[in-house]
Amino acid sequence: MQFAVIGHPIAHSLSPMLHETWLKAAGLFGCYTTLDVEGDGLEAFVQKVRKRQFDGINVTIPHKSAIIPFLDRLEPAAARAGAVNTVYWDGEELVGANTDGTGFARALATRTNAKNSLVIGAGGAARGIIPMLPGHVTVMNRTNQTAEQVAAEFGQSAVPWSSTLDLTPYDVVINTTSVGMAPAIDQTPIELTATAALICDIIYRPTPTRLLREATANGLDTLDGVLMFVLQAAEAFERFTGHKPDIALGEQVIRKQLEES
Ligand code: ATR
Repeated sequence: MQFAVIGHPIAHSLSPMLHETWLKAAGLFGCYTTLDVEGDGLEAFVQKVRKRQFDGINVTIPHKSAIIPFLDRLEPAAARAGAVNTVYWDGEELVGANTDGTGFARALATRTNAKNSLVIGAGGAARGIIPMLPGHVTVMNRTNQTAEQVAAEFGQSAVPWSSTLDLTPYDVVINTTSVGMAPAIDQTPIELTATAALICDIIYRPTPTRLLREATANGLDTLDGVLMFVLQAAEAFERFTGHKPDIALGEQVIRKQLEES
């Protein structure tokens, strides 16, 4: 079996290590590679997939929305998010799925039953996550208009961007922006005020981010992006192979790799 993750840039993806660990554990003979595909090469790449050169692919920045017109069908979550991170075969049909939102929601559910969440950011990742969250969601984004649009679309509310927002109304705060991601690891999207919230970051490189380090220093609970990354990959793996992978094994392999790199 042949799989790949496509993006630009893509070289440092941890997806091959994770999927190949699971392929091996399932006794499946397969290969999972990274492919650097630029925007103007996307359609030609999907034509290769159509020739059955790939049994499934993962899709990352900047192609999550751009790939949609080239697919035969979308799962409802992908249609709602307007973003696809997984492409698999259903018979003769090439189907787009979004497992980012369910991956995050499953990771969050291991920690708390969110009633009132603040989502920072309103991009593709936020659009996948917002509809999967239980309870009420407030969206805050650097570009306020996007926050208002996304909140309205999902029947939620928005607050104007402020890095010093009062966090006391929220039981969960989730950073879905790229602020704090390598290489700009000294940045943080929000200053933490006294709050009882669980502070989450979907970034897993580095982990912990500055946001999560500051949360810990303030005595707050944190959830980093590693389990979400592993769970979104697990849901992709199931669609690719029909096998349920070992989540704990996946998390262990990724945390070890992140510690060593
Ligand atoms: P993704 O698919 O990872 O969500 P995206 O769709 O490009 O990527 O969205 C990036 C998000 O991070 C957006 O919400 C963006 O805010 P804008 O809508 O204002 O662009 C947010 N973002 C990126 N860089 C940021 C920064 N330096 N400060 C605050 N927000 C930032």
